[in-house]
Amino acid sequence: MKRQQLTQRLLDWYDRNRRQLPWRQDSDPYRVWVSEIMLQQTRVDAVIPYFNKFMQRFPRLQDLAAAPEEEVLSYWQGLGYYSRVRNLQQGVREVVASYGGQVPDSPQDVRKLPGVGDYTAGAILSIAHNKPEPAVDGNVLRVISRLQRIEEPVEQSRTRKQIEQIVRDMMEQTERYGDFTQALMELGALVCTPRSPRCGACPWQADCIAVRDQVQAELPKKKAAEPPRQVQVHTGILVADQRVLAVQRPKTGLLAGMWQFPSVEVLLPEQQLSEAELASALRQRFQQLGQTVLLRCEWQRLNHVFSHRQWDLRAFLCDADAVDFSHRPDARWLTGAELKTLNWAGPYRKLADRVQTELLES
Ligand code: ADE
Repeated sequence: MKRQQLTQRLLDWYDRNRRQLPWRQDSDPYRVWVSEIMLQQTRVDAVIPYFNKFMQRFPRLQDLAAAPEEEVLSYWQGLGYYSRVRNLQQGVREVVASYGGQVPDSPQDVRKLPGVGDYTAGAILSIAHNKPEPAVDGNVLRVISRLQRIEEPVEQSRTRKQIEQIVRDMMEQTERYGDFTQALMELGALVCTPRSPRCGACPWQADCIAVRDQVQAELPKKKAAEPPRQVQVHTGILVADQRVLAVQRPKTGLLAGMWQFPSVEVLLPEQQLSEAELASALRQRFQQLGQTVLLRCEWQRLNHVFSHRQWDLRAFLCDADAVDFSHRPDARWLTGAELKTLNWAGPYRKLADRVQTELLES
């Protein structure tokens, strides 16, 4: 099948089957940008009311740039990661400051905006500026990997590049770049769905190698998930004067900025430590916080599985002869009431609750 015919058939199908969506009323780059960020984490149906409310309150890019962050976040409640909307606001502020309020139309400039990766850049450039830049999301990976029967895992950057090139080649057969991008996504959303694709309704049925070989259900291929890595975690509970010592995790990495008790984490297998070495490392951790402690006994043991990590968390009651209550930026002495209000890291929530009920007077 000639590429040009594939492109034309898809566009014809789109013209007949496209949904009326609020961000399709025009191609305002700001509206396209907001919709794409929202759609990265949530289904179309769920996004629509959020999008409409957001646009009512922040109708122009300048309105979003000028708004207080707290208020912007409140419009994102229920949409998932706040970092996405923080980046979006940073991005529109940059557009106001550096581009006179016009979303740039060159791939280099768009790609530099915070929170804008290859996919979002491609979506803004093609949908809003009608440039021939592919926007490859999960829908597109699925559609193309089936069309061409691509068996390599789609997360691999080589496979992704290959799919991008196929999309670019097809795109170049038309001048309706924005419609082409949306048509591919629409096909993925309405017809070439993850389970039970409706191949009978597909404009590419006759060209699809997965249909020919009856392997639609096996594509796209994903890499087998790695089993979670084991982590030994030793944590120390130091209670004095009806307070417990707590620290905040680093601003980056797993559970960034959340609260826990002073601890050491050891990633197996390469960092394995003996019991004695772990105990000594934990005492050193307390030393860094100005406290000289002994580990009296093991008090709790929790197992906690994250997507990539499995923690074997052991909590030790600690004693100190002389406790240092002086103020430090990296640690806080918490009362039982304060324990309740903090954002605890993973299994530390459970531990904090037990500290409150069993070790502190309420
Ligand atoms: N999913 C991601 N972007 C989309 C868009 N512009 N329209 C419909 N579904 C989408």
